[in-house]
Amino acid sequence: MINSAGISDVVPAGRMAGRDQPVLGLSAGLELRPWRADDAGELLGAARDPAIRRWNLFTVADPADARTRIARMHERWRAETGAVWAVARPDGPATGLVGLNDVDLAGGAAEIVYWLLPEARGAGVAVRAARRLARWALDDLGLHRLRLCHSPANPASCRVAHTAGFTYEGTQRSALLHADGWHDQHLHARVAGDPDRCAGTVPGQPVRDTRRAGSP
Ligand SMILES: CC(C)(COP(=O)(O)OP(=O)(O)OC[C@H]1O[C@@H](n2cnc3c(N)ncnc32)[C@H](O)[C@@H]1OP(=O)(O)O)[C@@H](O)C(=O)NCCC(=O)NCCS
Repeated sequence: MINSAGISDVVPAGRMAGRDQPVLGLSAGLELRPWRADDAGELLGAARDPAIRRWNLFTVADPADARTRIARMHERWRAETGAVWAVARPDGPATGLVGLNDVDLAGGAAEIVYWLLPEARGAGVAVRAARRLARWALDDLGLHRLRLCHSPANPASCRVAHTAGFTYEGTQRSALLHADGWHDQHLHARVAGDPDRCAGTVPGQPVRDTRRAGSP
């Protein structure tokens, strides 16, 4: 479609709804796959994890609510407004989530979000999942820009963003309301054609080595 300013949609409508949500392979025997109704227990477990509740502002009331949320993920795929994957071993339980919120096919943009259950953390999985999803969203789906936002008080998420190729673009003041009050927000983004890893460091964040530079 071409809008009144004469600009074509970046991604034509129907490119998500017209196909099934794909399974995306990750290294080390992991994959990104659509959430299933029988993942409700893991989704509820995530909502009970203090770090996920805190940083993802994620709440699930009970198993029925978890199943409703999983059904809504599939509705959002069909509506082309969201795309959410479970991080799992083939035929294994969900151990994390990575996804796109606020998908805007016409404008070519979306926001990437992620969390891992405690047992899946500390092995570079979030970086590989974010890179893999960025590759799908930018190269296969055809979006132009993915943003990634987090509180500066969450340095692990900042490292994931930076290591997965999401360049730090600035700090938005008082932008996220958490349980303990307003937090500033780091804005990172990855634009089509960016490399898999950012150069340099993020202001105000500790300098760390660059282990786990491998592919997804
Ligand atoms: C953030 C999260 C997704 C990171 O996933 P992960 O795969 O476990 O990431 P890792 O443990 O491999 O660490 C990623 C990087 O953060 C660094 N890191 C981990 N904990 C850290 C901390 N407390 N302070 C500073 N850096 C930290 C690691 O050293 C690593 O850096 P490197 O890439 O330079 O080696 C995971 O910890 C999580 O789900 N946390 C709770 C929910 C959350 O924060 N969600 C994000 C909301 S924006």
